[in-house]
Amino acid sequence: MRVIVAKDYEELSKKAANIISSQITLKPNSVLGLATGSTPIGTYRELVRLYNEGNISFKEVVTFNLDEYYGLDSNNQQSYAYYMNQQLFNHIDIKKDNINIPNGMTEDIGLECKNYEKKIRQANGIDIQLLGIGRNGHIGFNEPDVKFEALTHLVELDEDTIKANSRFFASIDDVPKLAISMGIKTIMQSRSIILLASGAEKAKTIHHMILEKITPELPASVLQLHPNVTVILDEEAALLLTEGDLLEMEA
Ligand code: PGA
Repeated sequence: MRVIVAKDYEELSKKAANIISSQITLKPNSVLGLATGSTPIGTYRELVRLYNEGNISFKEVVTFNLDEYYGLDSNNQQSYAYYMNQQLFNHIDIKKDNINIPNGMTEDIGLECKNYEKKIRQANGIDIQLLGIGRNGHIGFNEPDVKFEALTHLVELDEDTIKANSRFFASIDDVPKLAISMGIKTIMQSRSIILLASGAEKAKTIHHMILEKITPELPASVLQLHPNVTVILDEEAALLLTEGDLLEMEA
């Protein structure tokens, strides 16, 4: 794992956007795995800026989002499809047909999950997967569990996740209890991964993810086994990592 400590959220967002932008420059038809939540908002803002300045084009880019709430359609303002349109897709030249997000309104969950995996395979896999991380160590909506769930699947959301995400809803009762998420194997098959974390409330989770035991009880810890992960933190999220830890990561 490469660990980059940025001085603040602004710098973290710029660094993440620069990596994604280089990826698109080197391979204009890149397949991007995208994430939602508060953390990537600055990265998307930077990508839109780079696009507006003529530095990058998304004309040939294909995207796969990590997850979607079950039972919300894309017009629902809390859906991740709506979020992606607001934060990124409405502001760039990506083709609608190249955007993939699990369908939260599917009547056949099994088929939806199977087809999502198939589409990723047909696109020849994900070049670069952007991840946030939950306070409970989830990536996508892969919640702490007794085992790693491999492929795209229906998830029952954790109490902690429902509480954390209730800030986007009128009340906690409105937060869906189920979601469709890429699995751990789906994420691990990405050729490269960027994980972002900002703020002191993520510091303990980040310490475990990077330095402690690999366990499905902290799903992000599995990333220790991936050969090409870049973790970008702000100083607060890196609070529990010592200079020595960071030097060892570089070695
Ligand atoms: P956040 O969510 O960026 O809103 O903290 C991250 C996540 O739950 O994956």
